[in-house]
Amino acid sequence: MAHPQALASAPDWAAFATACGACTRCGLSTARQQVVISRGHHQARLMLIGEAPGATEDAMGEPFVGRSGQVLDQLLAEAGLDRSRDVYLGNVVKCRPPDNRKPRAAELAACRPWLDQQIAWVDPPLIGLLGATALAGVMGVKSGLTQLRGQWLAGEGPVLGGRLLIPLFHPSYLLRNPSLAEGKPKWLTREDLRGAAARLRQLPASL
Ligand code: URA
Repeated sequence: MAHPQALASAPDWAAFATACGACTRCGLSTARQQVVISRGHHQARLMLIGEAPGATEDAMGEPFVGRSGQVLDQLLAEAGLDRSRDVYLGNVVKCRPPDNRKPRAAELAACRPWLDQQIAWVDPPLIGLLGATALAGVMGVKSGLTQLRGQWLAGEGPVLGGRLLIPLFHPSYLLRNPSLAEGKPKWLTREDLRGAAARLRQLPASL
């Protein structure tokens, strides 16, 4: 792995799925249909992190397979990114919060070790944070998504150190703001993803 850290054991995704699937670290475990772990490629160099599974994800067991996932897939394709090959998708919380409420601080904290393990094993040089909850949950930045959106931030600490993170609008916000006119949120997000795609092309092959 490119980043030295305590979590740098050899990936064992099957064991990870089994352990995650049995998780009862927080109350969200009582109402879930299933734990929603990831979608995409385990060796992708761009990881995208959202908030939490919705009803469709809870039923199907994969992140971003509902309506907001369709928006995301469309923008990824328009940015020249293959959703199966170029990205690894996850969420800051792996179980659906009741009525799609925002995950609570204790739930984010309970789920964080799973996410850290995913980041360590996928080892992405680039991470996109989809929405304010992901920005707060991953970087501890509790406000300013609109100002920070589109800026590459240097990660710190054993898991994020050496990586670049970019806050992005959440796809569900783009569902409510569907205009692709220049300067609008959806247009900006497509530009952000195009920028990420350009960075991926510039990375040395070893990263
Ligand atoms: N919204 C998210 O943040 N994550 C999903 O997986 C689906 C919708």
